[in-house]
Amino acid sequence: MGPPKVGLCFGVSGIERCLNGQSPSHWVKLEVEPSFCNRLNKVHDRVIDPFGRSVTYLRLSVTDRCDLRCTYCMAEKMTFLPKQDLLTLEELDLLSTAFISKGIRKLRITGGEPLVRRDVLKLIDSLSRHLKSGALDELTLTTNGTQLKKHAARLAKAGVRRLNVSIDSLVPEKYARVTRGGELATVLDGIKAANDEGMRVKINAVALKQDNADELADMIGWAHGEGHDFTVIEAMPMGEIGEDRFDQYIPLSIVRETLESKWQLTPLAHRTGGPARYVRVEETGGQLGFITPLTHNFCEGCNRVRLTCTGQLYMCLGQEDNADLRAVMRSSDNPQEALYEAIDEAISRKPKGHDFVIDRPGSAPAVPRHMSVTGG
Ligand code: GTP
Ligand code: 5AD
Ligand code: SF4
Repeated sequence: MGPPKVGLCFGVSGIERCLNGQSPSHWVKLEVEPSFCNRLNKVHDRVIDPFGRSVTYLRLSVTDRCDLRCTYCMAEKMTFLPKQDLLTLEELDLLSTAFISKGIRKLRITGGEPLVRRDVLKLIDSLSRHLKSGALDELTLTTNGTQLKKHAARLAKAGVRRLNVSIDSLVPEKYARVTRGGELATVLDGIKAANDEGMRVKINAVALKQDNADELADMIGWAHGEGHDFTVIEAMPMGEIGEDRFDQYIPLSIVRETLESKWQLTPLAHRTGGPARYVRVEETGGQLGFITPLTHNFCEGCNRVRLTCTGQLYMCLGQEDNADLRAVMRSSDNPQEALYEAIDEAISRKPKGHDFVIDRPGSAPAVPRHMSVTGG
């Protein structure tokens, strides 16, 4: 028997894969310098950030526009990007493909509302080749559901298996107020169409002190009865909205206490690679996630980066630093190679986490851009 083989592997919050293919019993955990990470990323089809986090998840915003104006997300009157500034569908494909070559395994199409972008289904059809080749584990969407009925069949055909749909109230008038004009019935029809096509739906709701805090238990009961998972999200201070987020924000610690007075919540080990921490509601049998950027930071396990519809790569939802991949792509004779280098360089700057706080009235947002720019 020769000397034991030692695999080289990385990861602070969980070692995922050994570069040399060794079994976990041979793994040795190393703390590495950012510059070393960067050099290693260059020779391997993966990207590891300076904190040892493997980046395997890209959220791609295809538009900053939306047909709704949720009160915690946008101001009533928004100025959107001129359409000519947007990346073309071909450019979005090229960029996504470069990320997939660098080890991205999960791609979520977001917005704004992704389904309001004309021809976005062409992009999704095209990206589905990476599912077929096995390069991608999951191609999915976060949507407000208003256009879902029309597109469900084609999404399913492209290999989308799971969708996240945002609903912040099941009372039609309240839904219309929070979204500033949305029609709940249209979204429910969209969800039904998605289910009929075999796609699973997770409902996302932002917890709002005045609008839905007293309704969340009913919403969860409804979702679980329909077979949907449910995730509650803390409002994040992103972009000016013409209202004070202090008046909207409710910590999920309080929401959880209220739910626990009604139900038994059993913590689950289940993870989707997202920030949600899940429990099973014993009485409904359904799964409930909590996304708690303000009350319980989850950044140490962050595995994602975000690309805007103009090609800016944000390494953190809550920070301003970004890399202009559009400029890199458009100015190079060999865009693929140039993008690999630029992705490595950008991820070597991925920050430790966000600095979100909502602790007093009248504070400015932590970042000036709205969630709809970076796609949640
Ligand atoms: P799955 O776990 O795959 O269902 O995805 P997800 O929960 O990451 O996706 P989803 O689009 O449902 O995310 C829900 C919301 O969680 C987003 O819109 C954001 O509001 C929030 N969120 C997602 N990722 C992050 C993150 O890295 N940091 C912070 N602060 N919030 C995030
Ligand atoms: N804070 C928390 N969640 C937000 N979303 C939009 N803006 C905010 C915010 N400021 C959510 C939407 C949707 C997802 C894309 O992001 O409700 O679920
Ligand atoms: Fe549109 Fe989603 Fe923002 Fe609501 S939360 S305005 S649906 S992007």
